Amino acid sequence: MNPAELLNYGNKHLGEKKLNDAKILLEHCLKLKPSKFYFSKKNIKTCEKNSYQKLLNKRKKGLPTAYITEETEFMGLKFFVNKNVLIPRQETEILVEAVLNLLTAYHLPLTTILDIGTGCGNIAISLAKYIPDAKIVATDISKEALHVAKKNAKLNGVLDEITFFQSDIFESLTTYHLPLTTYDIIISNPPYIKSSEIKKLQKEIQHEPKIALDGGKDGLNFYKKIVPMSRKLLKKNGFLMFEIGYHHSKKIRKMLEADKFRNIKIINDYSRQERVIYGQNNN
Ligand SMILES: C[S@@+](CC[C@H](N)C(=O)[O-])C[C@H]1O[C@@H](n2cnc3c(N)ncnc32)[C@H](O)[C@@H]1O
Repeated sequence: MNPAELLNYGNKHLGEKKLNDAKILLEHCLKLKPSKFYFSKKNIKTCEKNSYQKLLNKRKKGLPTAYITEETEFMGLKFFVNKNVLIPRQETEILVEAVLNLLTAYHLPLTTILDIGTGCGNIAISLAKYIPDAKIVATDISKEALHVAKKNAKLNGVLDEITFFQSDIFESLTTYHLPLTTYDIIISNPPYIKSSEIKKLQKEIQHEPKIALDGGKDGLNFYKKIVPMSRKLLKKNGFLMFEIGYHHSKKIRKMLEADKFRNIKIINDYSRQERVIYGQNNN
């Protein structure tokens, strides 16, 4: 059996909807680029077929591919992931791109950034990578997530650009002496799924940390806490930027307006769902 035949076997095993997963798992198993599958004359050993079979079985049981390979991509960068962190979603790139666009649009030296709920560090690390002079503080309540985030910052060569900090939202930021006390941008992709909806989501999502998903009864717990406090931590004209669930924009816009944020903008994702909201601090 050669790699192309083994891939064919994997495709049949996982079914049509997971063709890409079969490919990623084979790449991981053989340490061979997918472009080489079709031309390789390599003879698959029994142990290689067995270990591929084990990966396919895990995937079939619903474990996300990224948790199996312990790797994913975000903003063109590689990230280590495990069960302690949410797997970065492609839609979250829209939030990072919004920051990069703001920098260009406002011609401002926006360089101090606070990322709340950093998870594997994907937002903070991408910003550190693409904004050379950025000084970033990244927080999470989960020690395990912060461990993963630091590992990723090292992997991507930006460990010195980011201060990682364990905090329940803002709690520790005010208690401890941090290198930064006010920010040009506060950014967050907080947990925003309604508690009652989590169990109804697909089985892959059930493997992700509940703490990364659960936004409380209406999904808005984190926005309610972050919006009012941000006014005090943002510099004048600084931006508060969120990823949001598709049915949340009206309520979050009202929260921002109530706290006198102006220039509020909403950005849609690739499926035309409202995905990002941001506003500018008036203080
Ligand atoms: C939706 S995930 C986002 C992860 C990552 N930033 C991303 O965009 O993929 C939310 C993150 O918030 C963290 N979190 C949950 N409750 C928190 C709290 N009270 N304070 C700070 N972070 C919290 C979770 O551990 C998780 O890493």
